Amino acid sequence: MSDIVGILERELGGDAIVGPGHERLDDYGRDESPLPEFFPPLCAVLVESTEQAAAVLRICLERKVPVTPRGAGSGMCGGALPIAGGIVLSTERMKRIIEIDPGDLIAVVQPGVVTGVLQAEVEAQGLFYPPDPASLEYCSIGGNAATNAGGPRAFKYGVTREYILGLQVALMGGEVLRCGRRTAKGVTGYDLVAGFVGTEGTFGVITELVVKLLPKPPAAATVLGVFPDVAAAGSAITMLLRDGLRPRVLELADKSSIDHIRGKSRYRFPDNAGAIVLIEVDGEPESMEMMMEKIGVRCDELGAIDVLAATEPAERRAVWEARRLISPSLKEAYRIKVNEDVCVPRGKIVEMLARVDQVSAETQIKTCVFGHAGDGNLHVNLLSHDDPEDPAVRKHMWAAASRIFEHTIALGGTLSGEHGIGLTKRDYVHLEQSEQVLEWQRRWKLMWDPSNLLNPGKKIPARTKPCSE
Ligand code: MLT
Ligand code: ZN
Repeated sequence: MSDIVGILERELGGDAIVGPGHERLDDYGRDESPLPEFFPPLCAVLVESTEQAAAVLRICLERKVPVTPRGAGSGMCGGALPIAGGIVLSTERMKRIIEIDPGDLIAVVQPGVVTGVLQAEVEAQGLFYPPDPASLEYCSIGGNAATNAGGPRAFKYGVTREYILGLQVALMGGEVLRCGRRTAKGVTGYDLVAGFVGTEGTFGVITELVVKLLPKPPAAATVLGVFPDVAAAGSAITMLLRDGLRPRVLELADKSSIDHIRGKSRYRFPDNAGAIVLIEVDGEPESMEMMMEKIGVRCDELGAIDVLAATEPAERRAVWEARRLISPSLKEAYRIKVNEDVCVPRGKIVEMLARVDQVSAETQIKTCVFGHAGDGNLHVNLLSHDDPEDPAVRKHMWAAASRIFEHTIALGGTLSGEHGIGLTKRDYVHLEQSEQVLEWQRRWKLMWDPSNLLNPGKKIPARTKPCSE
């Protein structure tokens, strides 16, 4: 393994390598996960093409060197951390939008394209790429595909997987696979594209994507239902869902979330807000207005203390900037922020909110809840000013996270609605999935990567007992 840096330097050129002693190398040992430690790789390789990615994967298999693929490093679960050492393969330089085709309603992009940049480019042509993770200003489309990222608009438009039609993937050993299509429909063969999306860089390295686009909705508007507390906001969401209303966004933010962004955002949330339901509608202006009217009336009936509308683009932008600030503001305010993205069946949102309060009371850990409640997807944040490296503190925080997971599963939910499993949730997957299900996934992983060198130790826990037991 020792000469791998030199071999890669000779193959790709020194400019592609962030090697030992480089001031940026440590950055590749961190991501946005709540882990205090970092995992420095031997080097990071910043590839510029599929051929280069394939060459790295060929060399690493020959030398038996672990490889951790990395997009923008904005993942929250440690998926891009090189925990087994070896090298990091970064796609950050693959930033080209190769094609936008308004007739076929597709774009072909490299994985390092920043999601918000793609959105702005297609919108300038009257098109729309809906998936909108909160990190859209710095996360990249390859990472979104690797984690099957969601976002607020997933409520109406679905998550990243629904927008990936085709992929080019470099496999461990250097083979390049092209799968999928650029047609609107297609059922030929097994759906390898769907199989690759969400695998968190454990099957291959995505080097090109064909993404589906929609026509840009003619107009959009945002409505804020201000509620006295989170329970009232949660039950209002349940009722709006039962009404069959389908805005494009149905979000929740509790008082603590709102308080943390006061003074930081251009948008001023009302002082009396005990919780906010953030709703966004889109479509033709007339039908949109009717929908907003209906939602406003329902929010009033469901106990809102105020209903505010943001129709002007500048005001809407300010609302969304504020919403996207919640997570970074919490990170800034606390030394520990264990942020989960559990997802419960929609009918269980109110019950889940109550159980989060219960865990907070039992553990004396401050919690803060916001997120994509219309999908049942709640960002439960466990917060502390204590030392993140203190083993007792760490144990206490993760025991609380474990309780949150247990409640989620008991309500028929899932550990992760959108952030992925990576490293931080890997050891809790058994709470949700049987050993049989895990074993089939291990076999699937080994089909693509028999030497287990590609992002090892992520996504699925290692086998602890024979499958038959
Ligand atoms: C969000 O919705 O803001 C993101 O998923 C980030 C987070 O959960 O912290
Ligand atoms: Zn989110």
